[in-house]
Amino acid sequence: MAAGGDKIDYVFKVVLIGDSAVGKSQILARFARNEFSLDSKATIGVEFQTRTLVIQHKSVKAQIWDTAGQERYRAVTSAYYRGAVGALLVYDITKRQSFDHIPRWLEELRGHADKNIVIMLVGNKSDLEDQRAVSTEDAKEFAQKEGLFFLETSALEATNVEAAFMTVLTEIF
Ligand code: GTP
Ligand code: MG
Repeated sequence: MAAGGDKIDYVFKVVLIGDSAVGKSQILARFARNEFSLDSKATIGVEFQTRTLVIQHKSVKAQIWDTAGQERYRAVTSAYYRGAVGALLVYDITKRQSFDHIPRWLEELRGHADKNIVIMLVGNKSDLEDQRAVSTEDAKEFAQKEGLFFLETSALEATNVEAAFMTVLTEIF
């Protein structure tokens, strides 16, 4: 519940995108409910969860949309991006391929979303440092080149998940 009752000043739609199994649904579970599951099932279609926060004395309802990374389970793309003001573009720091696919996700995002959308590149599973396949420097460089925010997160350890969403929501604001 928002401070001072249930008055909502703003509703912000934020979308999660990236390859299957990078941890999109668990990032959302961590942010929305402070939960995490190791046996998370692949998302089919579209789901969303909300969390209401206070930003600069206004109550902001963050409506976070999550879809399947797997093409065959994905819903209609244009509907997914419609009205989104923020996006988390997620890869897995232990899966090089998931980072190599980021330009494609970015292209899809830029082709469908509003041109002012705030985008955060997210390298998830930072707890698996011993299996790292994507350096922080490479990702930072890519983000800089493309004008994206960048953070490494761990949904498991609850590292930077809050910061990733808060950076995007505050920037939208
Ligand atoms: P799709 O729905 O198929 O697109 O996948 P997804 O991106 O939603 O991945 P999901 O959140 O279902 O997570 C995939 C697997 O990675 C699950 O086994 C999660 O428990 C695990 N996982 C997610 N985040 C982390 C993390 O931060 N660290 C570790 N070690 N595992 C994680
Ligand atoms: Mg999922």
